[in-house]
Amino acid sequence: MIASNDISRAVTVLRSGGLVAFPTETVYGLGADALNENAIAKVYAAKDRPSFNPLIVHVASADEAFLLGRFDSVSQLLVRRFWPGPLTLVVPRAANCPVPLLASAGLDTIALRVPSHKLALELLRKFGKPVVAPSANPSGRISPTTMQHVRDGLGDKVDFIVDGGASDVGIESSVVRIVDGYAYLLRSGAIARCDVEAVLKHKLHDPETSRLHSPGQLESHYAPNAPLRLGAKSAGDGEIYIGFGAFSHGLLTLSATGDLVEAAANLYRLLHEADAQRPQGIAIAPIPSMGLGEAINDRLKRAAAPRTT
Ligand code: TXA
Ligand code: MG
Repeated sequence: MIASNDISRAVTVLRSGGLVAFPTETVYGLGADALNENAIAKVYAAKDRPSFNPLIVHVASADEAFLLGRFDSVSQLLVRRFWPGPLTLVVPRAANCPVPLLASAGLDTIALRVPSHKLALELLRKFGKPVVAPSANPSGRISPTTMQHVRDGLGDKVDFIVDGGASDVGIESSVVRIVDGYAYLLRSGAIARCDVEAVLKHKLHDPETSRLHSPGQLESHYAPNAPLRLGAKSAGDGEIYIGFGAFSHGLLTLSATGDLVEAAANLYRLLHEADAQRPQGIAIAPIPSMGLGEAINDRLKRAAAPRTT
C-alpha cells in the first residue's frame, strides 16, 4: 500500500471502490465511497467490525449533510457552532438518502460529520461525494493517530494512505443524537460535554436512561494487547507506566503539566508505544474527569475492560 499526500491519487482509489486511510483532526479514518455498497462492505471487512456497528458519513459541508439527514432547529444550532469540527450528529435519514443502509447498519438514523482537517476537506471536496470513515484500526483496537499506526494495524487491507502527520486532537469526535429536539451524548469525545451544553443552553441527556445507545460502545474496546491498570500511582512488577500531571515519573507521560487537551492528543500514541514494548501490563495514572478527561477516562475504562475476544 502506498502513502503520500497526493489527494488526486486518493480520489482515484475512492472512485474505483478502494479504501483510503486519511487524517482528520481527531484520528485517522478508513474511508470509502459512501454511495458504493461494495466499498462500504470492504470497510467492515478490513476492520473485522461487527456489522451492527454503523459508520460515520463524512461530508465537505453542512449543505451536503442536509441532503442526507433531517436536521431540526437543535441540530442546526450545533452544526452552526461546531462544523467543521469534531462533532458527529446522529439524525433521522432523509427520505431519499442515497447512502446505503449498510452504512447505518440498518438503522433509520445516519451519523454525519464535517471534519476540519485541511487534507480531509480537500479529499472530500475533490471526491465530491460522501465518504464513510470509521477510525482506521482493527475493530476493538486503539485508534490510529499517525499513518504508521494505520500501517501497523491494517497493512495491505488499505489501498492508499494520505499522510498528514500526527492528528491534532488525538481522540474521536463526540457523538450526539438528536431526537425530537432533545440531545443525547452517545459518545464523549473531542468536544467537552460542557461546550455542547453551553450552546444548547441545557444539559445533554444520558442515553442509558432512555435506552438509546451507540452500538459502537462495546464494553471492551480500544484495547492494547497488554492488560491495563487504571488510576495507578506507580508501576508494579513488569508493568510500564504512563503518567499524568503530578504522577509523571518515567519516560511516558500524557501531560507533565496536567493539561487534558495535551493528554487527549497523546493518549493513543502512548498506548501504542507502551504496548509495542510488550510489557506484562500497562499502568496508567489517575486522570480527572473534567473537560476532555471524561472522554479520556471513557476510552481507558473500555481499554481496561475484560476482553470479549
Ligand atoms: O473522530 C471520529 O469520529 C473518527 C474520524 C475518522 O472521523 N471516526 C470514528 O468512527 O471514530 P468510528 O466508526 O470508530 O465510531 C463511530 C461511532 C460508533 O460508536 C458508532 O456506533 C456511532 O459512531 N454511530 C455511527 N452511526 C450511528 C447511528 N446511526 N446511531 C448511533 N450511533 C452511531
Ligand atoms: Mg473506532
